[in-house]
Amino acid sequence: MEPNESTCRICGGRVRAFFDFGRQPLSDHFPTEEEVDQEFFFRLAAGMCAECTMVQLLEEVPRDRMFRYDYPYRSSGSEYMREHFRDTARRLIETELSGPDPFCVEIGSNDGVMLRTVRDAGIRHLGVEPSGAVAEVSRAKGVQVRTAFFEEATAREIVDEYGPADVVYAANTLCHIPYLDSVFRGLDVLLGPDGVFVFEDPYLGDIVEKNTFDQIYDEHFYLFTARSVETAAGRFGFELIDVERLSVHGGEVRYTLARPGRRQPDPRVAELIAEENRRGLGDPMVLEKFGTEVKRVCWDLVARLRELRDHGYYVVGYGATAKSATVLNYTGIGPDLLPCVYDTTPEKIGRMLPGSHIPIRSAEEFRTSGAHYALLFAWNHLEEVRSREAAFTEQGGRWILYVPQFRLV
Ligand code: SAH
Ligand code: TYD
Ligand code: ZN
Repeated sequence: MEPNESTCRICGGRVRAFFDFGRQPLSDHFPTEEEVDQEFFFRLAAGMCAECTMVQLLEEVPRDRMFRYDYPYRSSGSEYMREHFRDTARRLIETELSGPDPFCVEIGSNDGVMLRTVRDAGIRHLGVEPSGAVAEVSRAKGVQVRTAFFEEATAREIVDEYGPADVVYAANTLCHIPYLDSVFRGLDVLLGPDGVFVFEDPYLGDIVEKNTFDQIYDEHFYLFTARSVETAAGRFGFELIDVERLSVHGGEVRYTLARPGRRQPDPRVAELIAEENRRGLGDPMVLEKFGTEVKRVCWDLVARLRELRDHGYYVVGYGATAKSATVLNYTGIGPDLLPCVYDTTPEKIGRMLPGSHIPIRSAEEFRTSGAHYALLFAWNHLEEVRSREAAFTEQGGRWILYVPQFRLV
């Protein structure tokens, strides 16, 4: 096997790299001073399967390294996302969960941001969340959670205890799970005959179109398209019956799967697949071009940051996102170009960004930092951040985005 190739986790076909970002640390592990010399590194490369077109990482990071007790990501950290998940829950309640005594399972329920609305409606529910501390946060909100990884064995335990599910839902989680064969065997056991599996994840079509390459990091093992999801679903005994494009996190697709022949697929499925084919999303050349463009944008960012520093401007980072790891560790941008990054998450403050060891400070400190420019790693929350930090621009500060390329906003 060449170093630029791996075996597809879905179909066993040949995966060829189009994107190689080299040695990278875990993206959601923010070390303290004492922990800096114990970081775990892996090779971040993504490729497409020549058989089934599934885009996936070449190297898999063991799940227990990523989703530990103290996994720091908190879904409720953004008002926009809280609204998104409240609306999602309400829609599920009105549609798939409107029968007698419905049951809803969420894979990767995190701090309970979605299930709390299901709970408020008095609907039977269960979150499956392996990261212990965040599972506790959701329990404190009255949400029922099992601290476990969802896989076939977990699904068997759940169905024995609660009976079949009407809806299994997952947001920004299915793409984190390399072992989809086991997940789908679990769904087969857990879902009732007319049950649906609804999941939403970053969409390869948006990533290529908007150059949001920093969505590629350790946790995002798969980058789905309607075409690759339809093929994988068929292989695992399900059918793709609906797709919906979402604006969250820079562009996602919500996929609905059912047992084959139980529901009429919406025409939107065939339409989106036709659009993907027109755009060449299954064409290795198109993806290679994307990979090349991304590297240009990364090095351009370094040049611009050097220029600003050399002209005496003070540039800081904003948003200690998982996304920031990819660009920082590829380019080697460190505290010399970006002395610190500010964030609202208590679990991250006082720690450092992985690999680059840029210190993370509280958003309150941002207000007195005296920064001229702030590089926004949470670019998906631009509007929310801009209004929270309105004083920054009122005092003459400027926000910098690096996707689709370097620009001031
Ligand atoms: N659904 C939330 C959280 C996304 S972060 C949101 O959209 O904001 C991904 C979450 O999935 C993490 O909390 C992680 O601990 C969890 N996770 C990872 N692998 C999992 C698995 N196999 N089963 C269930 N949850 C998993
Ligand atoms: P997010 O972009 O959701 O995710 P990821 O880590 O997957 O790339 O993370 C947003 C981060 O930005 C999170 O650490 C919280 C922080 N944040 C702020 O500091 N201020 C804000 O106004 C908002 C909305 C988020
Ligand atoms: Zn494949």
